[in-house]
Amino acid sequence: MEMLQVHSLSKVYSGKVATRALSDINLTIEQGEFVGIMGPSGSGKTTLLNMVSTIDSPSSGEVLINGKNPHRLKKNDLARFRRRHLGFVFQDFNLLDTLTIAENIVLPLTLDKKSVKEMDQKLREVADKLGITPILNKRTYEVSGGQKQRAAVARAIIHSPSLLLADEPTGALDSKSSRAVMEMMEMINQTDGTTMMLVTHDSLAASYCHRVIFIKDGELYNEIHRGNSRQAFFQEIIDMLSFLGGNAHELSSVRV
Ligand SMILES: Nc1ncnc2c1ncn2[C@@H]1O[C@H](COP(=O)(O)OP(=O)(O)OP(=O)(O)O)[C@@H](O)[C@H]1O
Ligand SMILES: [Mg+2]
Repeated sequence: MEMLQVHSLSKVYSGKVATRALSDINLTIEQGEFVGIMGPSGSGKTTLLNMVSTIDSPSSGEVLINGKNPHRLKKNDLARFRRRHLGFVFQDFNLLDTLTIAENIVLPLTLDKKSVKEMDQKLREVADKLGITPILNKRTYEVSGGQKQRAAVARAIIHSPSLLLADEPTGALDSKSSRAVMEMMEMINQTDGTTMMLVTHDSLAASYCHRVIFIKDGELYNEIHRGNSRQAFFQEIIDMLSFLGGNAHELSSVRV
């Protein structure tokens, strides 16, 4: 079944100089798929993610999530839709420094007025799954970047979203922590069947996806599918990026 459908999506940012960030994008993501979006800086990756997540609205075209267009919802319904169905992970973690890791993780549930008992149970489950139980009572400045990102992933999945959206989740992490975060995302995709869309510059992170879609200058360029070997897929991704240009300085073949 199709979880996400994007039809003829275009985005023009108006301003002193109008910028066409996306042109006529069509793509489909199946339920349970783990899809990467890659492309040079400025190619429109974050713009695409923001249209899907409803953070921003398209200039033309439509986004359907489970067959429904969230952009047509009224403000309150849209807020509820996002809280219930979507999960977000960002490069800079977006955790609140005044709260403990545990409080950060249950935040989406408190917004949805869940009972303390239910929150507590979900917190334990998700913390256990992501290996962050020992840090639950710490503040964000007392834990490492990798732990922060695992906490951010925990927060993004605690309400069992149907679609998890991540924009450069490994962008601020070293390779060891990146790998740990990607292994967690892979495990969540496999065990919970959560559909995932990952925007990344990181070939290693992208190699965990089932499929990687490349965009260039706001247009779909092509896509490649992973076979049995993540290592071979990693190399294919690197080759495609160097072909696309613009990312050569970020390439590394020593991290597989
Ligand atoms: N809010 C905005 N207002 C005007 N132009 C914007 C805005 N956001 C992005 N753009 C422009 O739209 C184009 C696509 O930007 P976008 O952020 O989607 O690229 P990206 O692929 O995510 O790049 P990066 O890899 O650097 O994060 C760029 O030319 C950018 O300058
Ligand atoms: Mg971006």
